[in-house]
Amino acid sequence: MTTEQMASEIEKLKKEKNAVIMAHYYVYDEVQDAADFVGDSFFLSRKATEIDADIIVLCGVRFMGESAKVLNPDKKVLIPEYAADCPMAHMATVESVAAMREQYDDLAVVCYVNSTAELKAVSDVCVTSANALKIVSRLPQKNIFFIPDQNLAHFIADQLPEKNFIFNDGYCHVHHALTREDMLKAKAEHPNALLCVHPECKPEVTAEADYIGSTAGIINYVTESDAKEFLIGTELGVLHELHKRNPDKTFYPAAEMQICPNMKKITMEKLLATLKEEQPEIILSDDLMENAKAPMMRMLELAK
Ligand code: 13P
Ligand code: SF4
Repeated sequence: MTTEQMASEIEKLKKEKNAVIMAHYYVYDEVQDAADFVGDSFFLSRKATEIDADIIVLCGVRFMGESAKVLNPDKKVLIPEYAADCPMAHMATVESVAAMREQYDDLAVVCYVNSTAELKAVSDVCVTSANALKIVSRLPQKNIFFIPDQNLAHFIADQLPEKNFIFNDGYCHVHHALTREDMLKAKAEHPNALLCVHPECKPEVTAEADYIGSTAGIINYVTESDAKEFLIGTELGVLHELHKRNPDKTFYPAAEMQICPNMKKITMEKLLATLKEEQPEIILSDDLMENAKAPMMRMLELAK
């Protein structure tokens, strides 16, 4: 089957089954094109509260499917590849959260949405890279245990000196692999380009950037900028939307290997099979969904 044939089958099945397809900017271009909604993690979480359909197919990694399920416990939530899992989502433990709560009074456990439902369930509030600064700044607690990502935590902590951050050692292997040397080399090769990077990158990398923000933040910054050339320091799936919105601008990867192997497990073949078979489905216990929902709803409330 060609990509076009799969796209038209997907469209037909979607209507028949009253399904909605949501996709993150890091999945393949053709999967983004097959989706009803494409966005960054914050957009997908917010949008998931507004879906009026029987089935949600989440084209992204497993924690994104779990988030959609937590926000829609009565809907069927499908993910085209169950093995598409973000390693960082597992880089903190429920035990470390409990230990931190023992150690500190006046503590908020802030959980980046790139985490399992189990971690969300023991946290006070979730954040995404698009809203973490706003949300942490609005918390009454002085002590902030930020899980799982060390780099996003440092990026926020540097801007909120009034808070006492306790760091966890998780990281995104895609963004964490970028180095200061990569940035200096890229800037030397393209001296007129503005460098845009994701806050999951190391501080030594963000220190070199003209703009630091979430996936959607980078897309908006580039689209509004008068500059014509950009170095992109995030997963390269984002280039699809960047090219669509900015046909007159030129983009260069800021480093090699900016590809998330798990996001790339979501293919058109698997999306089509998922719609046909209504599998794999995200199944979570009622207790887990209820406990994970509270910090997600708090995020949506505080982000307003
Ligand atoms: P955002 O969608 O918040 O930019 O996060 C990027 C990411 O790594 C998602 O897995
Ligand atoms: Fe996880 Fe990084 Fe892939 Fe996002 S890009 S899913 S944080 S490994």
